[in-house]
Amino acid sequence: MHMRKTIIAGNWKMNLTPAQGIVLVSQVWDAIKDTDLTDRKVVFAPPMVSIVPVADKMKNMPNISVAAQNVSSHTSGAYTGETSAQMLAASGAQWAIIGHSERRAYYNETNVELALKVSCSLVENITPIYCCGESLIERNKGTYKACVERQITAGIFHLSPDQISKIAIAYEPVWAIGTGETATPAQAQAMHGFIRDLIASKYGTQIANGISILYGGSMKPGNAKDLLTMADIDGGLIGGASLKAADFIAIIKETL
Ligand code: PGA
Repeated sequence: MHMRKTIIAGNWKMNLTPAQGIVLVSQVWDAIKDTDLTDRKVVFAPPMVSIVPVADKMKNMPNISVAAQNVSSHTSGAYTGETSAQMLAASGAQWAIIGHSERRAYYNETNVELALKVSCSLVENITPIYCCGESLIERNKGTYKACVERQITAGIFHLSPDQISKIAIAYEPVWAIGTGETATPAQAQAMHGFIRDLIASKYGTQIANGISILYGGSMKPGNAKDLLTMADIDGGLIGGASLKAADFIAIIKETL
């Protein structure tokens, strides 16, 4: 057994109004409130406009917290449309998804910019969930380890040992996101082990063994157990299935 926290995070992406989000949170809470969630974290990442109402709703729900889906790489100023880490923290967000593949692909977020986002979040005591993962082309070419190594070294290896101990990582192969195709437990485990070894090579095994690495990409009730029982898979970052209360609840229950 390791001492890592199990994290089940729902990434709602651009779905659900604030009112719909609150309903979903209540449904999930009702189903899990009587279970022992020690060493587990359930995280909801709603759109920005829902962070305040969702965080408010969760005030008396221990082990459940809110994540932003993005954070600015700047602290304040003339950046129209952006939201700073300080604002997110003040709104109740305790986590931030950083470097999701959709942000990398559609908004051209680079590893350099993501490194700044990670640092800005940590200053405000927001836990980054730093995402990495290769495309289908990189998987087929056999360059997927090099891709993930680049994302990890450029995005988080500027951190001090103390800082990196505070983050979580999500491995999300792009070819498995929203496609219904999941990495096999063995494929995912191989990459999680690779990521942990990379961290160990710079920060030592004790720090590497303490960092939760989540798997993301078409995780659902039917495959969650097989993925979550792998040695280096410490939770899930769940898109589609996190929008359906029954599915998200079933995945959480696989960790109990
Ligand atoms: P998915 O999305 O579960 O719908 O594949 C995962 C993610 O993008 O975080």
